[in-house]
Amino acid sequence: MASAARTASRAFSRSTPATSSLRPAARSSRFALQTQTLRFAPRRGYASEAEPKKSSNSWLWIAGIAAVGGYGAYLYQKGDSPLVTKTFVPTKEDYQKVYDEVARLLVEKDDYDDGSYGPVLVRLAWHSSGTYDKETGTGGSNGATMRFAPEAEHGANAGLKVARDFLEPVKAKFPWISYGDLWTLAGACAIQEAGGPAIPWRPGRQDQDVSACTPDGRLPDAAKDQRHVRDIFYRMGFSDQEIVALLGAHALGRAHPDRSGFDGPWDFSPTVFTNEFFKLLLGEKWVHRKWSGPDQFTDNSSKSLMMLPTDMSLIKDKEFKKYVELYAKDNDTFFKDFSDAFVKLLELGVPFTNKPEDRFVFKTSE
Ligand code: HEM
Repeated sequence: MASAARTASRAFSRSTPATSSLRPAARSSRFALQTQTLRFAPRRGYASEAEPKKSSNSWLWIAGIAAVGGYGAYLYQKGDSPLVTKTFVPTKEDYQKVYDEVARLLVEKDDYDDGSYGPVLVRLAWHSSGTYDKETGTGGSNGATMRFAPEAEHGANAGLKVARDFLEPVKAKFPWISYGDLWTLAGACAIQEAGGPAIPWRPGRQDQDVSACTPDGRLPDAAKDQRHVRDIFYRMGFSDQEIVALLGAHALGRAHPDRSGFDGPWDFSPTVFTNEFFKLLLGEKWVHRKWSGPDQFTDNSSKSLMMLPTDMSLIKDKEFKKYVELYAKDNDTFFKDFSDAFVKLLELGVPFTNKPEDRFVFKTSE
C-alpha cells in the first residue's frame, strides 16, 4: 500500500508545475533595479566628454575611472558585486531539499515512540493550523505563534515541543524558511513518508510576533461529543465529510498520559498511514477502559488499542458515520479526501501571493 501511494505521489509530482509564481515577480523587480543603475553609468560618461580642454593626464584619469566603472557595472549585472544585496528566492528544488532533510532525520532518529517522529510532526502541523477562525481571519499556520509561551503552554499543545525541537536543526540548515512554512512542510513530509497520499504544498507563511498568539480553547477537547467537534471544525470552515477524513490521521501515533492524559495507539501500525482507523472503529467492539485516567475506549479483543470520546462520536452520529463507512471500504477515496482536507487545513488564513496551481508535490524518498 505504501509503495502504491508512493507511485501515485510520483505520478502526481510529474504532472504538477514546479515553479512558484513568486519567482518571476521577484526576479523582474531585481532586473528593473539593474537596468536603472546601468542607465546612470553612460550619462556620467557623456558629462565628462563635454569638457574638451582636459590635459592628456586628465584623460588618462577619466579613462581609468570609466574602466573601473564599466567593470563595476559588469559585475553588478552579473550579480557578483559586493554592492549588490542579493535576494534569495527559494525554488521548488530548495523546498525539496528541506523535505529531504526532514525525511532523512525521520529515518536517522528512529529511537522515539513507535520508531518515528512522523506522527508528532503531523500533530504539530495540525495544531499550528487548527487555531484558525474564519469569522475574524485570525489563527492558522501563518504566524507560527506556537513558538511563544502563551500558545505553547495551551493544554492542547502539550508534548509538541518535541516536534518543534526535532525541526530546529532543519531551520538552522535552511534559515530562509519561515517556521510556519517549515512546520507545515514537515507535516506534509511526515504523511508522505508514512506511505500516505501526496500532500501538495505551497510556501508563503510569515512568522509573526507574540501579539498574534491565539486565545486558548480553539483546538478540540477529546473528552467531548460530536456537537463540540462540529463547533470547532465549522469555525475553520470544514464540512462533515472533511472532518471525518481529517480524523483518519489518528491511524498515526499514540496518546501519551503525560501529555493529553489519554493512553495508547489507535491501531497496530502507528507509523504507517492507512484507513485502519475507520476499519477498527467499525469492526471492533469498543468498551470503556477501566482505569484511573480520563474516560477513553479500548478494543474488546486485544485491549491494547484506544479511541477517544471524540473518535467514538464519528460512529454515534449518523451523518459522520456514513463517511466512516465510506473510508473503511475505500482506501483510495480516503487518501484523496484526506489530502484535499489536509491541504486546506495547512493553508487556512495564509496570505499567499502564489496560486493553488503552483503548489509543489514533493518527491517521496525511496
Ligand atoms: C476532534 C478532533 C481531534 C481531537 C479531539 C484530537 C485529539 C488528540 C489527542 C488527545 C491526541 C493524543 C496526544 C498525546 O497525548 O500525545 C492526539 C494525537 C494525534 N492527533 Fe489528534 N485530535 C483531533 C484531530 C486530529 C487531526 C485533524 C489530526 C491531523 C490531521 C490529528 C492528528 C493526530 C496525530 C498524528 C496524533 C499522534 C501524535 C503523537 O503520536 O504524538 N488529530 N489527538
